[in-house]
Amino acid sequence: MRIVHFKSAIKSIALIFLTSVFCFNALAEQASIKGKKTLVVYFSQPENINPTDVDGRTGASVIVKNDKTLGSTQYIASIIQKQTQGDLFRIETVTPYPLEHEPLIRFAEKEQQENVHPALKNKLNNLNDYDVVFIGYPIWWYKMPMALYSFFDQYDFNGKTIIPFTTHGGSHFSGSISEIKRLEPNANILSDGLAISRNDVADNDTEKDVIEWLNDLKNK
Ligand SMILES: Cc1cc2nc3c(=O)[nH]c(=O)nc-3n(C[C@H](O)[C@H](O)[C@H](O)COP(=O)(O)O)c2cc1C
Repeated sequence: MRIVHFKSAIKSIALIFLTSVFCFNALAEQASIKGKKTLVVYFSQPENINPTDVDGRTGASVIVKNDKTLGSTQYIASIIQKQTQGDLFRIETVTPYPLEHEPLIRFAEKEQQENVHPALKNKLNNLNDYDVVFIGYPIWWYKMPMALYSFFDQYDFNGKTIIPFTTHGGSHFSGSISEIKRLEPNANILSDGLAISRNDVADNDTEKDVIEWLNDLKNK
């Protein structure tokens, strides 16, 4: 009889332990942004466009909104910044990327194959001020652009919440969130960031969709 009690006590303890581990992980996955000081970091490479294109999406990876020409990721970053009232930081490389599509494709391919971590132009001096950092990038050759690797080389996101977003041509995040987890093992990284196809970026509904996603994050 005593043995039976002992066994069920062990079972209950194991159950409580497993439940608390599960709850802790679930909490760690949450990324409430309510009341948090927010930074929006992005990398984006608007390409040269045909000057006869007027509004909305053009042939290249740019959108034209209110007479401003923006890269796709840059446009999404601007919506997030406006909504969160956070600060904006653009990742730029010392050596500029080609503006024409084909040379850019070849340049990025070589950079990735050779595992180049390009030198960055500007420095972020106050990462410690922020609790939540949105990080946005296009997918290049199924990965983050190499400039993001340079960025993660330079900063330690220990204890910070990272919320990834991307624009892409069909690959979605393509494993890049796991890559960020590998590079920043001590950050709390939201697994289901926001991925928007470049074909949808200029749609009228996109701003609304981004705002809804942000509201969901606030209410978590
Ligand atoms: C060099 C390069 C490589 C790309 N590789 C991919 C890819 O592997 N998968 C994908 O879905 N889209 C790919 N794309 C498309 C971009 O991810 C997409 O156009 C993105 O919206 C560009 O964002 P940006 O305007 O902010 O730079 C690539 C674009 C470029 C320029």
